[in-house]
Amino acid sequence: MKSYQICCLPGDGIGPEILAQGVRVLEAVAARCGFAVRCENHAIGGVAIDATGTPLPDETLAAAEAADAVLLASVGGPRWDTTDPAAPRPEQGLLGIRKALGLYLNLRPVHVFDALVDASSLKPELVRGVDMLIVRELTGGLYFGARERIEDAPGKGVDGAPGVWCSDALEYGEGEIDRVVRFAFEAAAGRPGGHVCSVDKANVLGTSKLWRDVAERVAAENPDIPFENMLVDNCAMQLVARPAQFDVLVTENTFGDILSDEASMLTGSLGMLASASLGSGTPLFEPSHGSAPDIAGLGIANPLAQILSVALLCRHGLGEAKAADMIEAAVEQTLNDGWRTRDIAAPGTPEGCILGTDAMCDKVLERL
Ligand code: NAD
Ligand code: IPM
Ligand code: MN
Repeated sequence: MKSYQICCLPGDGIGPEILAQGVRVLEAVAARCGFAVRCENHAIGGVAIDATGTPLPDETLAAAEAADAVLLASVGGPRWDTTDPAAPRPEQGLLGIRKALGLYLNLRPVHVFDALVDASSLKPELVRGVDMLIVRELTGGLYFGARERIEDAPGKGVDGAPGVWCSDALEYGEGEIDRVVRFAFEAAAGRPGGHVCSVDKANVLGTSKLWRDVAERVAAENPDIPFENMLVDNCAMQLVARPAQFDVLVTENTFGDILSDEASMLTGSLGMLASASLGSGTPLFEPSHGSAPDIAGLGIANPLAQILSVALLCRHGLGEAKAADMIEAAVEQTLNDGWRTRDIAAPGTPEGCILGTDAMCDKVLERL
């Protein structure tokens, strides 16, 4: 029997609550599909800072490198928010593991389940049938450019006094752009929609001009796949005006971060958005949302983004496509049968249909 090593990173806030549900689903689907998983928890983020002083301990990175796939929940929280720029932050653990594993591609499928069209903040007729894939560049751009900070910079304070000066550089080499755009075209070729929209700010930024040049070059090599460029401000608007126009959307790291949170509301909740991070090292799978400190510990977090990330783990990380299909079908059936967590409960949903984190996962497991 095939056996896979899974490095599990629960992290902070709702992380441990939802990761446990993901593991339950992974173990159940493995048993049904005839493969084995060995899941082992390791520390990342705030809990790792508390235990070791660093958000990404060497031991955690080594375990991730040795695993077949990483399943992460979420990191961060007010407990580690500090005004001291030199203090370690939980988010550095996440950025660090993405970089160390060479995970330059981040896939965020935005799939609107029919059962949830009334849960979206947009009108049902706008979101019905929406099925797009956001391809976010993940190890470059504004997140990883040169960073500088001067505490007493002449003239940078209020009214010309000395003050703090800070700079985050947005940097790209053309190879970094080429590999994600190329992936977007490959993904589009295998999808029913089959078209690509590259999102940039080429009317202002030099890196975006480069992005557009590279995207157009790759588009010219793929003449059968319809292609367009769109400026990011317009895209933010188009996503809520006419979301069904999009199929594969490919963009810079920061733009992708922001647009994917925006797009999540088409599905009803950020708690529905899974993600896969792929590249040269061990692939990593995590919900697109954060540690949701406002609901941590209450047992009401939506576990579906985590569970759908397990489906992506099976498909893209383990090559177990049937297991992925089974998980996605079980989630869809759960929603069709009327079960909801609070965040995806449309107005008028009977209270008895609104479940907590574990009970929602129970319903998915029953349908697996
Ligand atoms: P967030 O994504 O944690 O939460 C935003 C809102 O969405 C909150 O109201 C939250 O309750 C809700 N939400 C998120 N996930 C949910 C779920 N599964 N079910 C129900 N509701 C859900 O964003 P934030 O509040 O801006 O950030 C909180 C912390 O998380 C910060 O420290 C941030 O850096 C971190 N963060 C981590 C990740 C990650 O680990 N990948 C992603 C985003 C933010
Ligand atoms: C995400 C998160 C992270 C990001 C943070 C926590 C570093 O918002 O995965 O979307 O910005 O990439
Ligand atoms: Mn984000």
